[in-house]
Amino acid sequence: MFKGLFQKKKVNTAKPEIVMDLSNLDLNNIPQHVAIIMDGNGRWAKAQGKIRTYGHQAGAETLKTIVRAADKLGIKVISAYAFSTENWKRPVTEVNFLMELLSRYLTNEIVEFKENNVQVRFIGSREGLPAKVQEKMDHAIAETKDNTGIILNLAINYGGQAEILHAVQTVAAEVAAGRLQVEDIDKQVVEDALYTRGLPPPDLLIRPGGDLRISNFLLWQIAYAEIWITDVFWPDFTPEHLVDAILAYQGRERRFGGLISK
Ligand code: FPP
Repeated sequence: MFKGLFQKKKVNTAKPEIVMDLSNLDLNNIPQHVAIIMDGNGRWAKAQGKIRTYGHQAGAETLKTIVRAADKLGIKVISAYAFSTENWKRPVTEVNFLMELLSRYLTNEIVEFKENNVQVRFIGSREGLPAKVQEKMDHAIAETKDNTGIILNLAINYGGQAEILHAVQTVAAEVAAGRLQVEDIDKQVVEDALYTRGLPPPDLLIRPGGDLRISNFLLWQIAYAEIWITDVFWPDFTPEHLVDAILAYQGRERRFGGLISK
């Protein structure tokens, strides 16, 4: 039934050319890992007199463009918040639409991922996800695991608190089994138990849609991320906005709790 909600034509038919003015960027100081809270899809759609799902479909197109732009800029990892553990509270038609959208995205983008050497990973819990979505996730992982280019880390059924709980349970189980001593639990042990194991922490967190919240995204990992917020809704977010975010990042001084180095 929700399939009827899909726009017959793709929202953007042609693959848009990536236009970015790099003249002011320091290409030696590109954030390695950029996390994005893809917010504002519903408001974007409403502003055009359309239903919310139209905004999600447009948002999925934006993600494709931004991954291509990020790759061009030399970003190594994009973590994108596609579905949170709290999003199950939305109307069932919207949830079903998002699941179908994810499934289609993972099917349709495999060729592009392979062509562009994109490695796809996922963070979040598999619990409650439709079997079809899980199959597509497994397929995307298997098909792109040897790719060495940008990592697209999709957060699906993800919540930062749930992730930390899961890590605590994992570590506690190791202690209970006698494989780990309590005094040996350190930062690395915790990080190895997070879904993001092996990835560097985000340097930059981007939130379109204007809200000044973290919304349970990567709570542990963003400890020292620079945050950039824009009122622009996610479907309207362009590679130029990504450049603006990086310019702002490059204008900041990252001290990681220390003192000014100059
Ligand atoms: C928040 O916007 C966005 C979501 C809950 C879903 C994000 C999903 C996508 C961008 C598309 C799916 C992604 C892939 C990879 C296919 P909102 O609906 O809360 O917007 P609002 O704040 O304007 O209501």
